[in-house]
Amino acid sequence: MDQPKAVLFDAYGTLFDVYSVGLLAEQLFPGRGEALAVLWRDKQIEYTRLVTTSNDGAHYQPFWDLTRAGLRYACKRLGLDLTAERELQLMNQYRHLSAFPENREVLERLKERGVVTGILSNGDPQMLGIALRSAGLEGLLDHVLSVDKVRKYKTHPDAYRLGTQATKFAARDILFVSCNAWDALGATWFGYRTLWVNRYQLPFEELGTQPTRTGATLRDVLPFFD
Ligand code: LAC
Repeated sequence: MDQPKAVLFDAYGTLFDVYSVGLLAEQLFPGRGEALAVLWRDKQIEYTRLVTTSNDGAHYQPFWDLTRAGLRYACKRLGLDLTAERELQLMNQYRHLSAFPENREVLERLKERGVVTGILSNGDPQMLGIALRSAGLEGLLDHVLSVDKVRKYKTHPDAYRLGTQATKFAARDILFVSCNAWDALGATWFGYRTLWVNRYQLPFEELGTQPTRTGATLRDVLPFFD
C-alpha cells in the first residue's frame, strides 16, 4: 500500500495526557480518584453520543460543557462533594493538560517528510487552542479540526468527514491515530487507515473490526512511512 499522505490525530488521551486529571482527582478525593477519572471520562463520552443521536443534534453542547456535565454526574453518582472550587480545579486541569513527550519529535519527523498533519477532535476550538498553545505544538499541525463545526461528535461520519474535506485526500490515504479504541474503530469504519495507540494495555473493541495497526506510543506512526 502507498504511504499515507496525511496523519490526523485524536486529541484527548492521544496527544494530550489526561492522567494528571486522575492525580488531582485522587488528591481531592483520596482513594476515589481513579474511580472518578474513569466514570468522568465514560460519562463525558456517553454524553457526546447522547446529544449526537438524539433529535438530529438539536441537543448539541460543546465538549467543554459536556465535560463539566460528566464531572458533575460522576461526583453525584460516587457520592463525592464537588464544591465550586473543586470543580474549577478539575476543569482547569483538563484545560491545561500536558502533551506526551514523544509528540514533538513524531510531528517534526512527519513534517520533514512533507506529510500533512492535523488534529480531528471532539474538543471545541477554544479547548484545543489552549491545549495546543500550552504544549507548544501549534506550528507542527496543518489542520486543527473540531467537530464543533458540524455539531456532531465522533463516531458520526460527518465528524470524521471533516478530515477528508480539509485535506482533500481520500480516507484511505489518511492515517487516523487514536488512543481510544472506540475512536480507532469508528475511524476504521469510516474508511481511514488507523493506528490504535494502546498506551494502557486495554483490549480492543469486540465488534469484529480491527484497526489497521496497533501500537504503544505515538512513535508507532513513523513505520507507516518506512
Ligand atoms: C477527542 C476525544 C475523543 O479528542 O479524545 O476527540
